[in-house]
Amino acid sequence: MPGLPQGATVLITAGPTYEPIDSVRFIGNRSSGRLGVELARAAHAMGHNVILALGPNTVPAPNFADRLRVERFRSCTDLESLLARLWPEQADVLIMAAAVADYRPKHAEASGKLRRQAEGLTIELEATPDLVAGCVQRRRPGQRIIGFALEPAAQLMASAASKIKRKGLDAIVANSLETMDSDEIHGTLVQADGSSESPGPLSKSMFAAWLVDRVMRV
Ligand code: C5P
Repeated sequence: MPGLPQGATVLITAGPTYEPIDSVRFIGNRSSGRLGVELARAAHAMGHNVILALGPNTVPAPNFADRLRVERFRSCTDLESLLARLWPEQADVLIMAAAVADYRPKHAEASGKLRRQAEGLTIELEATPDLVAGCVQRRRPGQRIIGFALEPAAQLMASAASKIKRKGLDAIVANSLETMDSDEIHGTLVQADGSSESPGPLSKSMFAAWLVDRVMRV
């Protein structure tokens, strides 16, 4: 990949999505957003402009006086609207670290609370749109898109390779399920041409610096 100038803008999405069941309940996942926040810190430290799109119940966002904008989302639909506003116009690189739900309730009770009922409850789920694949469709020449793949270790590299192709990504960060809730990450950056590299197990902040350097390298 050719290099980007210092001062390029990187859009980082991080954290889970919460998919509403009713006005108080949701289906969510265990993403903390920590790696995404570390990616934002690392990109900022390297002199880039950063837009950090952060999901619900994540670690606090950094608070820099300049070159950082924080946007919040809650559901996949919120993040879809945010991305429609920001991409491709406002950033050069998209790092899609958010753990977007793959399914959501088909019929949410938007302004009420479902009653408890003795016979149980069946919630019908529908697939969410693949947001990063949508960003690939509308990207402009020179823009880069990096996705994430969190999988059991045994399927990790095969899944990463097939996700790059299916979604049309430039690269994907493959990391195993053990990364969740851990202080460390042992991630591998897999490129669209099939090449891959890993810095070994690192703290999330060290890994973020390594990854941003690779992705934004001039
Ligand atoms: O297909 P899977 O969910 O494993 O792919 C993970 C990658 O795709 C992540 O980069 C994630 O942010 C993105 N994704 C997305 N929209 C979805 C599901 C995942 O953009 N509905």
